Amino acid sequence: MASSSLSLFFLFSLLSPILIASSPVQDPELVVQEVHRSINESRRNLGYLSCGSGNPIDDCWRCDANWEKNRQSLADCAIGFGKNAIGGKNGKIYVVTDSSDDDVVNPKPGTLRYAVIQDEPLWIIFARDMVIKLKEELIMNSFKTIDGRGASVHIAGGPCITIQYVTNIIIHGLNIHDCKQGGNTNVRDSPSHYGFRTISDGDGVSIFGGSHIWVDHCSLSNCHDGLIDAIHGSTAITISNNYMTHHDKVMLLGHSDSYTQDKNMQVTIAFNHFGEGLVQRMPR
Ligand SMILES: *[C@@H]1O[C@H](CO)[C@@H](O)[C@H](O)[C@H]1NC(C)=O
Repeated sequence: MASSSLSLFFLFSLLSPILIASSPVQDPELVVQEVHRSINESRRNLGYLSCGSGNPIDDCWRCDANWEKNRQSLADCAIGFGKNAIGGKNGKIYVVTDSSDDDVVNPKPGTLRYAVIQDEPLWIIFARDMVIKLKEELIMNSFKTIDGRGASVHIAGGPCITIQYVTNIIIHGLNIHDCKQGGNTNVRDSPSHYGFRTISDGDGVSIFGGSHIWVDHCSLSNCHDGLIDAIHGSTAITISNNYMTHHDKVMLLGHSDSYTQDKNMQVTIAFNHFGEGLVQRMPR
């Protein structure tokens, strides 16, 4: 996955959707065509006084003046290989009211950590602007959306987001920065289980054996390791509309050429801004 020819391919086509293609989607070319079709469609609808931006993801929900009442329709707006990530669609809305993260084994109701470990689908929103300095990695359970729209939410200054062996995650509209390593301690990952975590990489968003993942409209900067890393059999991922700055190893898709399962990795990288102060892996 880390071949240099692929890296060059990425570098030369920053603005167009980019696909890494192999199974498990039987015909990845169809996915590519569908992405181009949706972009063409959005561009065709551009016009004087139209709300359209030409970006099919944004036009899908921003043109709805009532988007705040219809938050879950965001789940239908992804394009590319992560398109089927439904996140917490059809689940309850959970409002984060408490920015603390004092107890990572028995998190308090109202905190972000309490929400993401639940077994049921949840659409997680924020009561107000907040800075959440996590004490340990935020280990997500399946079928969750973290929806930062309408508030200024920073996940910063501590360990950040870990998506490990779970599916159907949408992360939208968060500022993720200054992420640190965590670990050497117990962290809860579901209502019925917590486990010992070794030292973490210190990524902004770490996807490990995860599938049906969509990371959209986040700003990411200045983390200890990667801003967004997808490894160990992760696939069916879309990374779109993100703003990345001030960072060394930006994005890693597959950590080792000898990890053959990652030959199947399918990721769409579209409409991201690779901004100032980035050094390498855009992506690798
Ligand atoms: C999208 O538009 C471009 C330029 O007009 C065209 O070449 C391409 O065939 C279109 N693709 C699809 C899938 O509609």
